[in-house]
Amino acid sequence: MESVIVAIDGPSGTGKSSTSKAVAAKLGLSYLDTGAQYRAITWWMISNGIDVQDAVAVADAAGKPVIVSGTDPARPTITVDGVDAAGPIRTEEVTSKVSAVSAVPEVRERITELQRSIAADAPLGIVVEGRDIGTTVLPDADLKIFLTASPEARAARRSGELKGADVVTTQQALIKRDAADSSRKTSPLAKADDAVEVDTTELTLEQVIECVVTLVEEKR
Ligand code: C5P
Repeated sequence: MESVIVAIDGPSGTGKSSTSKAVAAKLGLSYLDTGAQYRAITWWMISNGIDVQDAVAVADAAGKPVIVSGTDPARPTITVDGVDAAGPIRTEEVTSKVSAVSAVPEVRERITELQRSIAADAPLGIVVEGRDIGTTVLPDADLKIFLTASPEARAARRSGELKGADVVTTQQALIKRDAADSSRKTSPLAKADDAVEVDTTELTLEQVIECVVTLVEEKR
């Protein structure tokens, strides 16, 4: 069976992670959560007292942390300098600061290089989820998917994940982060011209997974 590279991009709350993990598991592919890598470098910056608004300081430190991603979709892992970072990267502080760190070109250069080498090493292929995978990281991916959903649906899903966080506050934070991610100069959140757009607003997770699995199988 030929190896296949699948890029899944889109804003927060569209079901990217759940879909990507399930599709990878069903098809026996590796899985990479690139948002987790940007969160990991942000967590390292905060832990080392670096002001995330100081782009020069962030750029200077971008090469320092050693970030390792485990690509088993059943048990994705992430470590920073050998320390398990899966919990700390999901805090509100990291979420509110990650867009500033990920907008710094030196950070993107470093993380993009890491992502390309992980994708090249995946024996049967990989599902890579993020914001700029189809446009910048893996422009030759075999299949590019761009997931969307209404802001209301995205906020409702996210606040459900955050165990009952207020939907209005979640929606405001989400819109702010998406606006920052979409308007940055270096590889913003964007749909690649050759990506298939899937609006998940009215779909169940199972329907989205089914749709993406069918699209991958058509490419194989
Ligand atoms: O996917 P997740 O919400 O965990 O991503 C966290 C942040 O990482 C995004 O808001 C964005 O700033 C950054 N990111 C990025 N490029 C990617 C993936 C994530 O800039 N490919």
